[in-house]
Amino acid sequence: MNPLKIAVIGLQFGMAHIEGAMCCGAEIVAICDCNEEHLRYAGERYNIPGEKRFSDYRALFGRADIDAVVVAVPDQQHRALSCAFLGAGKHVLCEKPMALTRADTQAMVRAADASGCRLMVGQICRFTPAFEKAKELVSDGTLGDVYFVESEYAHDYMKIVDNWRADPLRHGVIGGGCHAVDLLRWLAGDPREVFAYGTHRLLPQVPYDDATVAVMRFDDDTMGKVFVSTGCKRNYTMRTVIYGTRGTLICDNTSPTMTLFTAGEDGMAHEPEIIEVAVNNHNAAREFEVFADAVLHGKPVLTDAREGAKTVAVCLSIIESSKTGKPVRPDYDFR
Ligand SMILES: NC(=O)c1ccc[n+]([C@@H]2O[C@H](COP(=O)([O-])OP(=O)(O)OC[C@H]3O[C@@H](n4cnc5c(N)ncnc54)[C@H](O)[C@@H]3O)[C@@H](O)[C@H]2O)c1
Repeated sequence: MNPLKIAVIGLQFGMAHIEGAMCCGAEIVAICDCNEEHLRYAGERYNIPGEKRFSDYRALFGRADIDAVVVAVPDQQHRALSCAFLGAGKHVLCEKPMALTRADTQAMVRAADASGCRLMVGQICRFTPAFEKAKELVSDGTLGDVYFVESEYAHDYMKIVDNWRADPLRHGVIGGGCHAVDLLRWLAGDPREVFAYGTHRLLPQVPYDDATVAVMRFDDDTMGKVFVSTGCKRNYTMRTVIYGTRGTLICDNTSPTMTLFTAGEDGMAHEPEIIEVAVNNHNAAREFEVFADAVLHGKPVLTDAREGAKTVAVCLSIIESSKTGKPVRPDYDFR
């Protein structure tokens, strides 16, 4: 039994966190949503009684029986809620993207540092089985020296952008593209420079480009590419290809198999190996397990405040480059 006592705020994607926390045996001591219908629905669905349902998150600040909160409200509110709960001495698992501006990510890093509590950003792709396997094959040398890695975030937002997602600050590169950017950072490190092009043809209802392609250079001259399309006409995918000196891996978050090519003694690629993998692109249970381990046992958080902020920094650099037509060097200095 996981003794962590938590509150979940924002009950749409937040329901995945309720399920993830319940899988880990954590106790849900409060749920909160300002929309009464969403609050009632989640309460009934997960058998959470009326006295544990709240419509105003401020009622939770002083509750001594809450160890940690999950912040799953629209991105524009991540800073306000995360900083307030950190200030109230609560550990925070905040949804991705950490925030939409540098000022907000910087403030959240400072709030986490000052609080002594853990702030984890829900970059859930680091818990996707295919990407965990990809990370393993990079780390154990199977692919050799990685010289190019590409990922894409292709998702049709046609029906879900008539709300806070249409905010000019919530550009597709940061909203959904942060998944692909974070994955590249996890696999290859921090890009030192990015260059991007964008175009706007599919989603007339948003005030930003709905397709962007970015190339990037890492410190050791490894190259990277991210493609983001938030209006594409296809099924959701984060197809990712990692090219190394000893092999190449093709994987995805929505496929049950990965394809691995490795070179033999003669330096030529063998027939590919097909690796079976579970499809779980929202592995909230594993994400919560890592969060709980960090809070309860002081274990490291893969995506702590600075990691979340660095991913946003790269996304903002891509957006800037696509607007100015100039290469941009992300600023990773968060104090
Ligand atoms: N990790 C992922 O793959 C993933 C997937 C979807 C969404 N998200 C992220 O999760 C967050 C929520 O997204 P969503 O799709 O659930 O959005 P949504 O708009 O569908 O739902 C947000 C919920 O939060 C509630 N809410 C808004 N402001 C609130 C407040 N101040 N207090 C209490 N409740 C409030 C709304 O009433 C609504 O029920 C966003 O940050 C989004 O980027 C992440």
